[in-house]
Amino acid sequence: MKYLKKENTLEKRIRLDQKVIHAIESIALKKGESFSLAINKILEEYIKEKKIFCSFDKFYSEHPNLKFDLDNKIKVFENDFITVDLTQWKGKINVIVTSPPYNVGLDYNSHNDSNSYEDYLEFSKKWLTKAYDLLAEDGRMWLNIPLDKNKNGLKSVYADIVTIAKEVGFKYQSTIIWNEQNISRRTAWGSWLSASAPYVIAPVETIILLYKHQWKRKNKGTSTVEKEQFIEWTNGVWTFNGENRKKIGHPAPFPVELPRRCIKLFSFIEDIVLDPFLGSGSTLIAALEEGRQGIGIEIDSSYVELAIKRIKEYSGKQMKLQIQ
Ligand SMILES: C[S@@+](CC[C@H](N)C(=O)[O-])C[C@H]1O[C@@H](n2cnc3c(N)ncnc32)[C@H](O)[C@@H]1O
Repeated sequence: MKYLKKENTLEKRIRLDQKVIHAIESIALKKGESFSLAINKILEEYIKEKKIFCSFDKFYSEHPNLKFDLDNKIKVFENDFITVDLTQWKGKINVIVTSPPYNVGLDYNSHNDSNSYEDYLEFSKKWLTKAYDLLAEDGRMWLNIPLDKNKNGLKSVYADIVTIAKEVGFKYQSTIIWNEQNISRRTAWGSWLSASAPYVIAPVETIILLYKHQWKRKNKGTSTVEKEQFIEWTNGVWTFNGENRKKIGHPAPFPVELPRRCIKLFSFIEDIVLDPFLGSGSTLIAALEEGRQGIGIEIDSSYVELAIKRIKEYSGKQMKLQIQ
């Protein structure tokens, strides 16, 4: 046991057990701060709120769980995006690139992907509200979601999410149709060769582009997009293959090509890119590749490990290339 004295405050002594000491030490180490600075910050916050007999476990459960930090540029947190405390980035995120769960019954380990549609829309509103809060005034968000869904009743997912995003405060900019050439989706015909009740299915996904207040960036920065890419990608129909789930080891990865295009086309070098639903880490690989800062949040520990492994593999390859 260790006792920490803090003079001239209502709080004179706080008893810390080994687990808490270890947690504070590792946070201090990751932040490059001393143990006493970290503990003083915690004390100040609690004393300000007059929570004299505070629970340190509670404090840490409310704070981000940083699992990986590459040169203070690429960070991976294992946590629930809805509840994790990201106040230090409030109003600072330049670009969000993400693909939230689609609620189509995938086996995501920790996340239940078979909620009622109403619960799904409520969840969407919560995370969109938080994303909006984190964005800078001229921040943008790229959102990869399906056009619609036909499992357990047809639903206009795209239209509903755009409506909620606008309710939350987002402004609409445009939509890209991503043709991932997945013809296996073209199987449900409804009433075959009959006008009775046929189904029409578009085997595409959408990438919605939204922004916070102002579309034009306030300050100029350095772009990395090339001329041919700019011409090709500003045409809103993108055609490239989806990612192989088995190869990646995640139920719904998008190919790195998707965040790469979004990041190159709509952000400057050193911008902060956030993916609130990191999955296998594709967005952070693209951010690293393009010299942006990246923050990823993922609720499931096995996907966090997978994302970290993929980012490390990518940064290892990059280092080898630099040495050659
Ligand atoms: C569609 S996948 C994202 C895939 C990712 N784009 C990739 O390339 O691998 C959605 C991810 O969100 C995660 N997730 C679900 N609910 C979450 C939450 N509340 N907070 C953080 N992550 C969550 C799931 O575990 C899943 O890995």
